[in-house]
Amino acid sequence: MSLNQRKAEYIQHIEAFLQNWYERFKTEPQKLLFDAMQYSLLAGGKRLRPIFAFEFCRMCGESWEKATPFAAAVEMIHTYSLIHDDLPCMDNDDYRRGRLTNHKVYGEAMAVLAGDALLTDAFAVASTAELKDVRQLSLAISVLSECAGSLGMVGGQVLDILSEERQCTEEEVLAIQSRKTGALINAACTLGVIAAGGSEEQLAAAARFAAFTGLAFQIRDDILDKIGTKEEMGKSVGTDDTKNTFVRIYGLEKCEEMVCDYTERAIRELSGFSNTAFMTELIKSLASRRN
Ligand code: IPE
Ligand code: IPE
Ligand code: MG
Ligand code: MG
Ligand code: MG
Repeated sequence: MSLNQRKAEYIQHIEAFLQNWYERFKTEPQKLLFDAMQYSLLAGGKRLRPIFAFEFCRMCGESWEKATPFAAAVEMIHTYSLIHDDLPCMDNDDYRRGRLTNHKVYGEAMAVLAGDALLTDAFAVASTAELKDVRQLSLAISVLSECAGSLGMVGGQVLDILSEERQCTEEEVLAIQSRKTGALINAACTLGVIAAGGSEEQLAAAARFAAFTGLAFQIRDDILDKIGTKEEMGKSVGTDDTKNTFVRIYGLEKCEEMVCDYTERAIRELSGFSNTAFMTELIKSLASRRN
């Protein structure tokens, strides 16, 4: 199966699952909340985190569908992070996933609440995972909460805000990016291994793979903020001038090299898995992505 065919299959599966999950709530009186959540959730992001979860599950020798509840949970948390990231009190952006940002359509209060609900509902979705051993489920919940919360994505967003308007060191930028972006990618990859009942070694290798991939991914995002267009990206560009990014420290050329270097390092972490051709091709393609 080609890269594009497999990607399309994963994307179709996760989008159908997410749509279906909320179908049964349609008659609830808080319909506006569900509309706001679906507006961002079904707006067609790249769905990379679900793809990572599915693929790690498959690379551990299990059928990839087993990772569905975890893939969906991470995508819900990621979508909430984007809704809040775009708020006027944060990055104050008007476009996301090719449409107006959530608060531009539903107002700030509903956008905050849609994010809150996606975060909380994600744990309900994750709890439906069918695992061989109940200890695996408690590990999964602790991975998900740690990667999303104060030690993970939220912690990184805080460092990102606190570092605005001052020059950070490389070490500080690494600390920001590993949390704000790396942590949820880590959740996706390691939860794929957990869904498959993978080994301790595979869990550790997935976390290292995620750390390198997360850095490559965020540096490419920062490069695209400079060289991408709003049409390609589906979100505002040229908005990071006060942000601490590697592009600010090292410039575009060096950053292109860093993306390739981190991508190579990520690929080396796949040696303990089987069927790694798709993942290798996928992350190579991300190094030169335009969206
Ligand atoms: C955007 O993530 C936020 C970052 C961590 C850079 P994505 O680029 O994966 O966004 P979507 O999911 O495709 O919209
Ligand atoms: C945000 O990073 C990462 C999140 C936790 C949402 P950015 O602020 O660079 O993401 P974009 O460029 O708005 O997607
Ligand atoms: Mg931001
Ligand atoms: Mg932003
Ligand atoms: Mg960005």
